[in-house]
This record gives sequence, C-alpha cells and structure tokens, in this order.
Amino acid sequence: MNAKSDTNLAPYSYFNAVFTRLAIVMFSSDGWKDTIAFVEETREFVCSLATWDLRTQVNATSAPHPRGINEMREAGLDPAPCVLVRPPRVKASPCALECRWLQTVRLRDLDGAEVDAHVAFGQVVGVHIDDRFIKDGLVDTAAMRPIARAGYHDYFVATSDTRFSLRRP
Ligand SMILES: Cc1cc2nc3c(=O)[nH]c(=O)nc-3n(C[C@H](O)[C@H](O)[C@H](O)COP(=O)(O)O)c2cc1C
Repeated sequence: MNAKSDTNLAPYSYFNAVFTRLAIVMFSSDGWKDTIAFVEETREFVCSLATWDLRTQVNATSAPHPRGINEMREAGLDPAPCVLVRPPRVKASPCALECRWLQTVRLRDLDGAEVDAHVAFGQVVGVHIDDRFIKDGLVDTAAMRPIARAGYHDYFVATSDTRFSLRRP
C-alpha cells in the first residue's frame, strides 16, 4: 500500500527470513518496482504465503499493471485487514506476516558499482496463521502446500510426502 492507500500485490521469490531473535525478513526487488516504492513510502508491508491452491492467482499478480491498479482485486483475491499495519493481507492465504520496514540495501557489483537490486528488510510485528493449520500446537506447514519458484517456468510444491526431519548435531 502507498501513501494514497493504493494496494499493490506481487509475487517475490527472492524472499527469506534472516534473523531469529527478532523475526526479520527480506525481499529483493530486481529493479525499482511498485512494491519496494510503496514499502519505502509507508514503511509497512505484508507477506502472504503463496500456496498450491493460490498458484494461478499468485502468477496473475505478477502482471505489469500500471500503478493504481489493485493486483489483488484483478487476480480475484479478497483482502483481509491486518492488525498492526495498514496494508491488507490476502484473505485466502493461510499465513501472513505483518512487517514494518527497517532498511533497504542497494547492492553493488565486484567493481563497487551500484546494481539495480534493492533488498528491503522488515521486522515482523504480527503473524496470521489459519487455525486449520495448527496441529497439536505446531504449525503444519506442509498442509498449507507452499510453492517455491524453481527457475524457468517451474515451481515446487511442499507436501507432507516430501517433508523430512533431521536433528541438528
Ligand atoms: C513466482 C514469481 C516470483 C517473482 N519473484 C520476484 C522477486 O523476487 N523479485 C522481483 O523483483 N520480481 C519478482 N517477480 C516479478 C514480479 O512479481 C513482477 O515484476 C511484478 O510485476 C512486480 O510488481 P510490482 O511492480 O507491483 O512490485 C516474480 C514473479 C513471479 C511470477
């Protein structure tokens, strides 16, 4: 969402959690796009989990719409209000992170020249998890069937069949 309350939604696979004691997440904008511009304008953003059930809509929101067009509505997705930040989350997504922007790092190449990559970091201030995916007090991530981009036009879907556990040494 920007200062005019225009809502913006797009898939970002360059996304990760980067700190544990505080929940800090990042996404990287490959070029200066609306999402990073809106985040810097309002200092808030929301990450809604992309899932198998939402795959068509996730892809639809990557269309290069002009600013002011609400990609969430265009993709047929309903918003749901957040609690601590103004931008909405995707109602149909089983998990969403309410984030407050911390900083953006402009990346440089080996010669020290700036490249058009903008990595935004945000602190998670609120977490939404659909109660249907809490089992015995734990989040059943596999049941949400999250999807991951695999390059080309390919994706992976995480399911309970592909889940495995390892104890750390
Ligand atoms: C699955 C998927 C993942 C994507 N991940 C990224 C990403 O990590 N960074 C990026 O800059 N663009 C990514 N894109 C492209 C953006 O979603 C696309 O440029 C979109 O129009 C940006 O919207 P915005 O201008 O509203 O931010 C991805 C597209 C798809 C389909």
